[in-house]
Amino acid sequence: MPTTASPSQPLRRRSLVCYVFLVILTLIFILAVGFLITWLVTKPKKLHYSLENASVQHFILTDDNHMSATFKFTIQSRNPNHRISVYYNSVEIFVKFKDQTLAFDTMEPFHQPRMNVTQIDDTLVAQNVAVSKSNSYDLRAQHSLGKIELEVYVKAKVRFKVGVWKSSHRTAHIKCSHAMVSLPQSNKSQNSSCTADI
Ligand SMILES: *[C@@H]1O[C@H](CO)[C@@H](O)[C@H](O)[C@H]1NC(C)=O
Ligand SMILES: *[C@@H]1O[C@H](CO)[C@@H](O)[C@H](O)[C@H]1NC(C)=O
Ligand SMILES: *[C@@H]1O[C@H](CO)[C@@H](O)[C@H](O)[C@H]1NC(C)=O
Ligand SMILES: *[C@@H]1O[C@H](CO)[C@@H](O)[C@H](O)[C@H]1NC(C)=O
Repeated sequence: MPTTASPSQPLRRRSLVCYVFLVILTLIFILAVGFLITWLVTKPKKLHYSLENASVQHFILTDDNHMSATFKFTIQSRNPNHRISVYYNSVEIFVKFKDQTLAFDTMEPFHQPRMNVTQIDDTLVAQNVAVSKSNSYDLRAQHSLGKIELEVYVKAKVRFKVGVWKSSHRTAHIKCSHAMVSLPQSNKSQNSSCTADI
């Protein structure tokens, strides 16, 4: 009896190992197909941002290089995704001239549905901000020509939602560089597109 049982035992063990291996392989395959289908169904598309109708009012630049002004603009945020919605948390908006931040604001968190365009109207006030000598010189020169070239920078924590699944937080850096901000008298409105790094 023991002579007939001993050769079949390693065989049985080998087939058990084979079986476990097959099950694991199948599970991996199912997971991979699941990810592929999820990706194909959601087909993530880039979020788009642009800056519109930017203007500056009540511009004052004192002789000792302190600046006050009111900046108004609309940031248009476009979510072209059919299945992904976006949660924006702790949104911070900066208006910068060259390397200097002139004004800063925070926004209420909001949720952007799928296939949605959201307009964010904002007014930022710079109050007696000390500006470096060379930046003052450039600001004066640009102001006298009726346009100031600024950068609007938005930093936000975002989460994506697909169905019931929510991603973890990511930091979005949205930069609208070389934004031409017009004086209200000139009536010119210019739009500029922004780059987003999420
Ligand atoms: C920008 O201004 C134009 C003209 O006044 C207006 O038609 C348009 O709706 C404004 N855009 C936004 C995003 O508010
Ligand atoms: C986009 O979503 C916002 C917030 O839910 C809503 O107020 C707005 O009407 C939506 N816009 C469009 C074009 O669907
Ligand atoms: C700007 O627009 C207002 C009305 O919208 C008009 O009365 C004014 O003449 C315009 N200014 C210039 C410089 O075009
Ligand atoms: C900027 O965008 C607004 C709204 O999309 C549009 O009404 C306006 O004509 C645009 N202005 C320029 C200068 O393209």
